[in-house]
Amino acid sequence: MKAYLAELGSKVDSYLATCLQRPDVPEQLLQAMEYSLLAGGKRLRPVLCLVWAEMVGEDQSHVLPAAAALECIHTYSLIHDDLPPMDDDDLRRGKPANHKRFGEAMAILAGDALLTEAFGLFMRCNVPPERVLTAGLELVQAAGASGMVGGQVLDMQWTGGTVDVKDLSRMQELKTGAMIRASCVCGAILGGANTGDIGRAAAYGMHIGRAFQITDDILDVTGDQEILGKPVGSDQGLGKVTYPALIGLEGSRNLARSHTDQALASLDAFAGPEDQTRFLRELAEYILVRAT
Ligand code: IPE
Ligand code: IPE
Ligand code: MG
Ligand code: MG
Ligand code: MG
Repeated sequence: MKAYLAELGSKVDSYLATCLQRPDVPEQLLQAMEYSLLAGGKRLRPVLCLVWAEMVGEDQSHVLPAAAALECIHTYSLIHDDLPPMDDDDLRRGKPANHKRFGEAMAILAGDALLTEAFGLFMRCNVPPERVLTAGLELVQAAGASGMVGGQVLDMQWTGGTVDVKDLSRMQELKTGAMIRASCVCGAILGGANTGDIGRAAAYGMHIGRAFQITDDILDVTGDQEILGKPVGSDQGLGKVTYPALIGLEGSRNLARSHTDQALASLDAFAGPEDQTRFLRELAEYILVRAT
C-alpha cells in the first residue's frame, strides 16, 4: 500500500509541477503557490480520486487533472487555515507556513489563486464532458459554503466554547469529511461509475474522512511535531472543539476505529479490481495508525 501511495503521490507531484510552468502569472504569486503545493503532503485526496477511477475501470491518467485540482483546493484550505485570524499556526508541511514566508496578503492571494486554478484543471479531464459537469458540482458542494468552508466557519464560531458530539460530528463532516468524500466520489463519477458504485465510493469516503479528522485531533495531542510537520498542541492552545477534548483519547480512538470498520464494510459490496480494493482497505487502516 505504501509503495503504491508513494508512486501515485509522485505522479501527482510531477503533474502539479508542470501545472506551475506559468509565465503568465506574477512571479511572487507563482512562488507562493508552488511553495505550499510542492511542500510535500500525503496527497491523500488526489490518490483517492485516482484509485476510485481505477476501481470503476477508468484509466487513471484521464482523471489526473481532477486529482491535481483536489490537491490545489486542499492546499489552499491549509494556507488559509494557518492564517493568524484562523488557527494562527506557523508551521505547515515541515516548513514555515505560507504567510510566515510570503506575508499574509500574498498567502490569501496564493490560496485564492489555487482555488480558482483548480477549476481550470478539473475541466481538463480527459473523460466525457457530462461526467466532468456532474463531478464538478460534487466538488463545488464539498469545497464551498455547504462543505469545507462552512465547516471551517463552524470550527471558528465554536472555538472556545462547548458543543455536543452531534455538532462536532457535523462540523468535522463538513470541514474535512466533505473533501475526502468528494475525492472518492469524483474519481468514481469521472470514471463512469453507476449510481450504486458512486454511493459506495461516497460511503467509503465519508467514513475514512471522519476517521481521518478524529485521528488528526488525536495527533494534535499525541503527535511528534518533527514527524507531523505542523504544530502539536495547537487545538488545546486555541480552545478548539475536538474529540479528545470531548470524549478523551480512548473514546476518540474507538470512534475512529468504528468509522474505519464502516468504510471497510462499504467495500464489501463492491466488485472492484482486487489490487485497488486491497489498497483502499489498507489505506483505511493506515489512516488510523498514521504518525503524519
Ligand atoms: C490536514 O490534512 C488538514 C486536515 C484536513 C486535517 P492532511 O493531513 O491531509 O495534510 P497534508 O496534505 O498531508 O499536508
Ligand atoms: C482543518 O482542520 C481542516 C481544513 C479544512 C484545512 P485543522 O485545523 O485541524 O487542520 P490542521 O491540523 O491545521 O492541519
Ligand atoms: Mg483549523
Ligand atoms: Mg489548523
Ligand atoms: Mg488539526
